[in-house]
Amino acid sequence: MSPYAHITGWGMSVPERILTNEELAKMVDTDDAWIVERTGIRQRYIASPQDTSASLATEAALQALKVANIKPSDVDLIIVSTSSPEHIFPATACLVQDRIGANKAGAFDLSAACSGFIYALNVATNAIQCGSIKTALVVGTETLSRMVNWKDRGTCILFGDGAGAFVLQAAEEPGGLLSAVMRSDGSGGDALSLPAGGSRLPTSLATVAEGQHYIHMNGREVYRFATRVMSQATLEAVEKANLKIDDINLLIPHQANQRIIEAAARNLNMPLERVVINVDRYGNTSTASIPIATVEAINEGRLHPGDRVVFVGFGAGLTWGAAVALWNGPFAGKRKVRPVSYRIWARLRSILRRLVRHIEGLIWGRYT
Ligand code: UT7
Repeated sequence: MSPYAHITGWGMSVPERILTNEELAKMVDTDDAWIVERTGIRQRYIASPQDTSASLATEAALQALKVANIKPSDVDLIIVSTSSPEHIFPATACLVQDRIGANKAGAFDLSAACSGFIYALNVATNAIQCGSIKTALVVGTETLSRMVNWKDRGTCILFGDGAGAFVLQAAEEPGGLLSAVMRSDGSGGDALSLPAGGSRLPTSLATVAEGQHYIHMNGREVYRFATRVMSQATLEAVEKANLKIDDINLLIPHQANQRIIEAAARNLNMPLERVVINVDRYGNTSTASIPIATVEAINEGRLHPGDRVVFVGFGAGLTWGAAVALWNGPFAGKRKVRPVSYRIWARLRSILRRLVRHIEGLIWGRYT
């Protein structure tokens, strides 16, 4: 029988700097009352020049490894879901791999915008279930503040930075992801996009002057789409897991807008006590929002072993998806490992590997 992919570790990281609605009101024509009424957002975290998608992801990943009590070298696969990668390539996942010293892991980025964490969980689960890997690290990380037009009040009020991570491990006993649905509709791609910087519109003076490197969004269109698909995807995933909505203890939705979350809960006849909402403090951290909300729910004692939880999200693409999980927590036992102490070894290893590559270059250079 195929193994299950248990969620055995979790972690999150946000930058120090908080940006309040009051501060935003000094930058664009908006006010706290409007933002709170239309979105539920009161503040968000914004990356400092030192924070990057990889640095936030690394912190979240090390915490997740600590909770799972496993070494970076136990990780077989790292999937980093992000729409604000450090570069087009190399993948941000490879930067994380190097920084945590996961010397036996494959690593790649996954681009499905705010639905990315659900997609990544499903891909990692499938890899575990088919037996090709035993342990995966799934990270959602964003520094979208770098791509926001701080003069556009329609978008700059929404987004925040942060990262969240899960460790998934193979086990014979039932648990972890029970079902997932992934959907897309590329015909709506222009509703939420970052037009330039790829092969379609390479960076040029003109693309910069035209503001094509900022997030462009048709807010109303995305809103309509989101309220439709959130409950739909949840119901599909729940049915696929042979469960009913009443069997679900906790709904952890993508944190884009409190009104969208409340509409989904209403459509599902789910009381808000069974829904995690933290968009008020983090804003929309895109693919990081579901793991961040999960970590908060655990810390607040809202998620326990044996609970059935639904993750549901939507985003650019357009993409959407949902996953049902049976919550178990870390595997018991073993000597305590301290993945944070591996950071220093990872650094040394990285320096050494660069040095070897440099020496190889000198040698090969001499002979050619
Ligand atoms: O992860 C996915 C990411 N995206 C989303 O989830 C976005 C989904 N959409 C939304 O959350 C909402 O559409 C917004 C919060 C973006 C906008 O709320 P809305 O209730 O849909 O407002 P609207 O776009 O219909 O605009 C209503 C009015 C407009 O003024 P007029 O044309 O009625 O005079 C806007 O210009 O509100 C104005 N407005 C603002 N006013 C004060 C738009 N943004 C602001 C603002 N402050 N920040």
